[in-house]
Amino acid sequence: MLPAQWVSKRYMHRTRIAANTVMDHHNFSLKPLIPWLKAERPIDWQRHFGRKTILEVEIGFGYGEFLVQLAQTHPVRNFVGLELRWTFVRKALRNIAQAKASNVRLIQADARVVLDRLFLPKSLHRVYALFPDPWPKKRHAKHRLFSHSFLKLLNSRLVSGGEARIITDYQPYLNWILEQVPGTGFESYCKSIPPRFGTKYERKWHESGQKEFNELQLLKQEHVEIPLKEDTPLVTYQIEHFDPDRFYPVNERGDTVAEFKEFLYDHKRQKGMARVIVADENLTQHFWIEIGREGECWHIRPAKGCGVVPTMGVQRALDLVHDATHQ
Ligand SMILES: C[S@@+](CC[C@H](N)C(=O)[O-])C[C@H]1O[C@@H](n2cnc3c(N)ncnc32)[C@H](O)[C@@H]1O
Repeated sequence: MLPAQWVSKRYMHRTRIAANTVMDHHNFSLKPLIPWLKAERPIDWQRHFGRKTILEVEIGFGYGEFLVQLAQTHPVRNFVGLELRWTFVRKALRNIAQAKASNVRLIQADARVVLDRLFLPKSLHRVYALFPDPWPKKRHAKHRLFSHSFLKLLNSRLVSGGEARIITDYQPYLNWILEQVPGTGFESYCKSIPPRFGTKYERKWHESGQKEFNELQLLKQEHVEIPLKEDTPLVTYQIEHFDPDRFYPVNERGDTVAEFKEFLYDHKRQKGMARVIVADENLTQHFWIEIGREGECWHIRPAKGCGVVPTMGVQRALDLVHDATHQ
């Protein structure tokens, strides 16, 4: 168990770093970044861009070089970039600010989750992915993004006649994607292309001697219907008694995985925090569940600031914490 002072010191340190970061990089604005966890579902793009026009998405935009090029070449279109890593998002925000591109928005999240939950069927004209992670090792192939089920999701979000373009340096990944295509409503066309996008990874492969890359164009022929996934309304709990010394939540391993990793308790504040990993619905989430004293009772809920996507698995983790408080 950690003393309360230690926890609060750590929080202060983090705040200081965050403040410096913003000061050092005042040449970018956070405005293009959409705080999607709190955004409406589906996202009202007309409101975010201030206009209604063709909408295109780039998955895994890295430093955002291509996204900015697209935005400048097609000022009448709107562009949304999806990227997992904050260091890349930060760099892209700087490139967007330098280019003064007002028709780009960014979301830091997994493309699978975002396309499932934020974009309506038939709302995108084009989707691009440049040099998606190829996961070359056989045992890692399950991490590859452009699986059969993801291609169906892409199809459903594209307008009739819409297209996805994937550029890869890695022929086995191209072959693997081509195997996924049948039954996804796409027709595929491949060609070799020279370097032409100027992105970080294109430069990397070009400098290491690669002269040609593979371009895969997926044209939507038939619509595949996948409705917008809705958030699970979370039920939190209020309980009368809580004994932190007898709190042992039980892990669950089935369609949903919930694994409890640690438990911290602050006697002074009468607050417990259980760290859990939940895997369900194509999504693995690490977050804390708080058991905090409020007046006469204790409240069990996801801790503030964890940014949880509300899924059945998150609800199951709350249920397991609740069950463990009755032991
Ligand atoms: C090899 S890098 C290519 C980056 C950039 N397109 C370029 O050409 O320089 C792959 C990028 O995809 C991002 N990425 C991987 N999986 C993703 C996912 N499921 N959703 C969104 N971005 C993802 C990674 O964070 C990484 O930035």
